[in-house]
Amino acid sequence: MHEQILNLKNEAVALISQAETNQEIEHIRQDLLGRKGKINQLLKDIAKLKPEEKKEIGRLINDTKVAIKHALKSTITTSKTTPSWLDVTQPGTKPSIGHLHPLSLAIEEITRIFEGIGFTRVRYPEIDWDYYVFESLNMPPDHPARDEWETFFIDTPKNKKMGEIVLTTHTSNGQVREMERIGNLPAGKAGPPIRMLNIAKCYRRQQDITHTAMFHQFEGLVIDKNINIQHLKGTLDYFARKFYGQEAKSRIRPFMFKFTEPSFEVDFSCTHCKGKGCRSCKSGWHEVGGAGMVHPNVLRYGGIDPNTYTGFAFGWGVERVYTLKPGLQLNDIRPLYSNNLDFLEQF
Ligand code: FA5
Repeated sequence: MHEQILNLKNEAVALISQAETNQEIEHIRQDLLGRKGKINQLLKDIAKLKPEEKKEIGRLINDTKVAIKHALKSTITTSKTTPSWLDVTQPGTKPSIGHLHPLSLAIEEITRIFEGIGFTRVRYPEIDWDYYVFESLNMPPDHPARDEWETFFIDTPKNKKMGEIVLTTHTSNGQVREMERIGNLPAGKAGPPIRMLNIAKCYRRQQDITHTAMFHQFEGLVIDKNINIQHLKGTLDYFARKFYGQEAKSRIRPFMFKFTEPSFEVDFSCTHCKGKGCRSCKSGWHEVGGAGMVHPNVLRYGGIDPNTYTGFAFGWGVERVYTLKPGLQLNDIRPLYSNNLDFLEQF
């Protein structure tokens, strides 16, 4: 039996090394290691041996099994699946070429539009101190206005000045940070003007067809001498025309934000019905976010004298402005995050 096992081992290893295809290899594997294969047959035969032979033969069968498995494995990984001939004239399989995610494309487009009128894109933390997200925006601790922001808090010890750490609920956390950055520039360059565009991820405890727990906002902040509401309205109209087409218009409605006074909600005319009112917009307008004249207290937090400088700010959802584009009219933003290629490949 000793010799029979050694022969089986040598033959099996030779056979495996000569196999041309994975199919052949599978066939050999079944023949040797399958339930009714040669190795199992040998193991059954052990019962017929004398007790003193059993141990030695058992070990030998086991070694053979390991050697066969090893040979099979290395043959499969060095793959014999390539046919011995190759038709080099056959057209190749085209790799599918991806493209940027629609929201990345939207962010690029928004950036270019605002760069065109002198805004500079900046990035500020997406996980930030309560101080920048709320307190320096005129929302002291325990102020009820904070509740609207449905905030995620990070479980870390509080800092005496900065408070807790939160996932940023809006890109407005960049306002006082930008004022501080400009204020810390070398003498002669420090201070306004500011024309900031802050685009970042934001987080809120929300989930429905127009709200996701993670979304993007873009925030504009302009501070200089003699900035007034007309500059804000002109900027909104400029963006509407560039992003949605020449006929698009913006509209502002009175609202309340603690960090702007006066404050507005901003609407863009519906690109589908051109402001007449249709099934998707009802009123002819779509709300995209907020805006207003920077509150004097916020300027003070940023080290800017409100008697010399004024400014405006706005903050809108990237998903929201993007899904209103002509031809898109998506009333559900969640597919943007579904990773469904059938959907994403359309952009
Ligand atoms: C704000 O976040 C203010 N910071 C905007 C602002 C900036 C006002 C500067 C004044 C000056 P609001 O909570 O309304 O405002 O959010 C603005 C926009 O962000 C919304 O209109 C919507 O387009 C988008 N948005 C808010 N929450 C979500 C969400 N969960 N999912 C998707 N988009 C959202």
